[in-house]
Amino acid sequence: MSVMRSVVLGCGSYLPGQVVTNAELARRIDTSDEWIVQRTGIHERHIAAEGEFTSHLAIKAAQAALDHAGVEAGSIDLIVLATATPDNTFPATSVMVQAGLGITGGAAFDLHAVCSGFVFGLASADNFLRGGAFKRALVIGAETFSRILDWNDRTTCVLFGDGAGAVVLEAQEQPGTTADRGILTSHLRSDGRHKSKLYVDGGPSSTQTVGHLRMEGREVFKHAVAMITDVIEDAFAATGTSASDITWFVPHQANKRIIDASANKLGIPPEKVVITVDRHGNTSAASIPLALTAAVADGRIKRGDLILLEAMGGGFTWGSALLRW
Ligand code: UT7
Repeated sequence: MSVMRSVVLGCGSYLPGQVVTNAELARRIDTSDEWIVQRTGIHERHIAAEGEFTSHLAIKAAQAALDHAGVEAGSIDLIVLATATPDNTFPATSVMVQAGLGITGGAAFDLHAVCSGFVFGLASADNFLRGGAFKRALVIGAETFSRILDWNDRTTCVLFGDGAGAVVLEAQEQPGTTADRGILTSHLRSDGRHKSKLYVDGGPSSTQTVGHLRMEGREVFKHAVAMITDVIEDAFAATGTSASDITWFVPHQANKRIIDASANKLGIPPEKVVITVDRHGNTSAASIPLALTAAVADGRIKRGDLILLEAMGGGFTWGSALLRW
């Protein structure tokens, strides 16, 4: 029996020009390249220029995705933009992107699930497309975390970077098997009891300030691997697949140790894991589409590959998605 699937037509990304190395951070705060590399796997990150906003990064990533897909911006009828660092409190950054791309039809909204935002965005767009409400969607993850970091707090400021990534999805009829192209399954979770382990200490309703990111790193680390592997097991169970069926594992890029431990627990060999955290740092909602685009651009991800995505972040929120490219 044929079913509707959300098929990826193309992907694209954008990184700001300025690269900040660990050595540069070590000149400003009490840290070292050795500590950062050993604990996180991060060597460098990109930082947005003054006057370069989340919407600017998102527009560039979205345009690259449209070009890669070979479709006109005007054919997009849904934009879902995942970000925790919007240009303004409102309107949504997605409408800036919509206007920037010259799109005047359909709908655009922001989605806030911090580092899990891209997986939540993908799942949301997938439901709209499969339900028939929209035909062609842009799902974007875009962040300027450099704007919410306390640059004097060495426990957080060395971890994050700025960037944006996007995919174009289209509703297409498929035969209805796990050999189908498109999103095969997605699994989303949240548990607000962990809200104080990773948060921003400001906001429009509470302090009327933007605030800075605060994290109990060790606590987040402790939960990460179990939560990630749980939702991946759900994806396997829902599709009757297993780790050995996966062509590429494209995890949220927070910390190489978390990625390695998750892959190891699931039985996914290191050569199937896409890593960009070394060059990008943790770009929150942007990290997965940035990694996808990198692996497509260098020829690793090809049509027909089975791709496993996962993310975990503030809230906590966490989720997985399994798709055939
Ligand atoms: O994407 C959202 C999800 N976020 C994450 O997944 C982040 C999860 N957490 C982590 O990745 C890790 O917990 C960190 C990388 C943040 C920290 O690694 P850790 O191995 O958990 O280190 P720690 O927090 O236990 O700190 C160890 C030591 C401490 O010193 P003492 O108390 O042992 O003397 C810290 O003060 O390292 C010290 N430290 C640093 N030293 C040099 C903390 N940050 C730094 C730093 N440079 N930048």
